[in-house]
Amino acid sequence: MRRRQILTAGAVATAAAVAAPAAAAPGGPGGNAAGKSPKGPGTGPKKPPGNGRRTPPGLAKKDTFAFAAGGTLKIGCAVAGGGHHTSQDYPDPFTADQEYREVLATEFTSLSAENQMKWDHLRPAPDTYDFSDADAIMDFAAANGQVVRGHTLMWHNQNPAWLAEGDYSPEQLRQILKDHITTVVSRYAGRMQQWDVVNEIFDDSAVLRLEGNIWLRELGTGIIADCFRWAHEADPDSLLFFNDYNVDGINPKSDAYYALIQELLADGVPIHGFSTQGHLSIRYGFPGDLAENLQRFADLGLQTAITELDVRMDLPEGGEPTQEQLAQQAEYYRRVTEAALAVEGCDSLTLWGVLDKYSWVPGTFPGEGAATVLWDDFTRKPAYDAIQDALAEASGRAGHPALRD
Ligand code: G3I
Repeated sequence: MRRRQILTAGAVATAAAVAAPAAAAPGGPGGNAAGKSPKGPGTGPKKPPGNGRRTPPGLAKKDTFAFAAGGTLKIGCAVAGGGHHTSQDYPDPFTADQEYREVLATEFTSLSAENQMKWDHLRPAPDTYDFSDADAIMDFAAANGQVVRGHTLMWHNQNPAWLAEGDYSPEQLRQILKDHITTVVSRYAGRMQQWDVVNEIFDDSAVLRLEGNIWLRELGTGIIADCFRWAHEADPDSLLFFNDYNVDGINPKSDAYYALIQELLADGVPIHGFSTQGHLSIRYGFPGDLAENLQRFADLGLQTAITELDVRMDLPEGGEPTQEQLAQQAEYYRRVTEAALAVEGCDSLTLWGVLDKYSWVPGTFPGEGAATVLWDDFTRKPAYDAIQDALAEASGRAGHPALRD
């Protein structure tokens, strides 16, 4: 089944629900330095000929991820802002790019904060919380009928300097962490579908980050259970997750989570989910046991989720992906979507960005990119169609026949 490549922006959401807030100009909290010029389309990977058709008039609202997913699962996207965006030559995407906001509003039923709910963003100073960017995401989601995944409460990365370099006793650190989790989770209580409570605690050798993670180093492994308990107290309705990368298949790292989670569940710790991020590359083989891996966590009684899906590739000289690369990428996206749909209790599939110009990949993996499902002019890659087709197959919501080739 092949589908068209089109643009759907503006089809469903009202102008009011997606309009960028006038007060939140670049240079505001979490934004970029004023005076930076917008980076126009075409700055990401080049689009090969034959990619990118537009919406048949009048059919747009039946031609989105959201429509195709129906009730099968939440299909989500990270909201670009903070993190690597702050050093890029474009304004804060979420507050400045209206077309991007329309895509977020119309295509997705779930949103995640790419950086706006991390410690370095929420905690500019020890006694200060800055919720402005996080609140803006919550408000946008509410206006567009979307759920939100919170990311993240306990992590070794993106901690503010005052914390990472501070001179605190274990007792003080414990109080700082408890206060943070209680304050942040309470603020969004009843409005946060899922929280990534504990993020990336195992390293690539499947060993706990007992040195690199400030909380584990200073407070010991018992703090893991405390994080879940404090979060649950603050919001008994939110589903609480372990989240990590390179745990897509069954391997030593996912085995480590499997063992740890069983121990914690036996102790009555309120853990509700295990999620794999899904940062994939076509350079490597596809994790064909993804569904099997998620299923074993589901069999422990947990929810599962795919929280940060993207599929990068080595860009050929000139920056234009080959048709073969795009086809292989589409296949990876399709297989992840099908795996998510196959596992009972895997109710959330989130893309870590939707436009290459905002993707974190090129900054971290020089020479690689084109990892998202849209070209920078908002037209669709084969990967978009692959996801939409897999969703439509599962939901039976294939859209209007005129949308099919
Ligand atoms: O902290 C330094 C700062 O000292 C320096 O002045 C500045 C200069 O650019 O860089 C700052 O670090 C940036 C960091 O965000 C904090 O703002 C990094 O360059 C930048 O690469 C980083 O990007 C974010 C990254 O997480 C950090 O780990 C990305 O925007 C964000 O997409 C990415 O998201 C993570 C998930 O949270 C967890 N899973 C992996 C995923 C991809 O890395």
